[in-house]
Amino acid sequence: MRKPFVAGNWKMNKTVEQAKALVAEILPGIQSIDSVERVFCPPATSLPTLSELLKDSGVGLGAQNMHWEASGAYTGELSAGMVKEFCQYVILGHSERRAYFAETDGTVNKKTKAALAAGLTPIVCVGETLDENKANLTAEVIKRQIHQGLAEMSPEQASKIVVAYEPVWAIGTGLAATAPEANTVIKSYIRDTMKEMFGAGVAEGVRILYGGSVTAANAAEFFSQPDIDGALVGGACSKPDFIQIVKAAAA
Ligand code: PGA
Repeated sequence: MRKPFVAGNWKMNKTVEQAKALVAEILPGIQSIDSVERVFCPPATSLPTLSELLKDSGVGLGAQNMHWEASGAYTGELSAGMVKEFCQYVILGHSERRAYFAETDGTVNKKTKAALAAGLTPIVCVGETLDENKANLTAEVIKRQIHQGLAEMSPEQASKIVVAYEPVWAIGTGLAATAPEANTVIKSYIRDTMKEMFGAGVAEGVRILYGGSVTAANAAEFFSQPDIDGALVGGACSKPDFIQIVKAAAA
């Protein structure tokens, strides 16, 4: 049985004061729902404050990115060890990082290994663009992202990863994939590829999320699919929506 997982990706939104206010609003609505693994991923500036606020709450904290090196001359970057001071999770390879900050399957691979070595749970994002989707390249792109992003890892390492399928055309557009469509990609291109790479035990145990215009209105439909284990939520991170999405994952 895979434990449902819902993470909020706040992206480049909220000052520390605003982040504290949002957590104060949402936490009472989700704190008791411990059948779902719940995670907030605010901007890095809020991580120290939120790690104090969330201590003993049962709700986890994640960063939105990190570097693969342990330290050194990498201006503007954070290492896995620095993230680990405050977080249990880290989002890696988000499509916005791939599109605007030159992330590749190779850098995602290095970051994922570094996160695991530091004891963080990586939330590794994959997804095809609209052009790739229209050109019927979805299977090829997703399998490549999984093969290369998770290359040279042991089954034991792979079992600790959470994967998020986020079709780029569905992110922030209000145009979600249909639930069966997302389930097919997750089952046939992600879970089955991980089965080839790491064996059936790992593939059956690994949590795979859907992300891309998940809302309080459509979340339950995604979660009713057999291979969708939760959601990575962007725009619907505000109070009523996020609480509803966590409740839907528990149902
Ligand atoms: P969205 O973003 O829910 O606003 O589409 C999801 C994400 O980017 O993780």
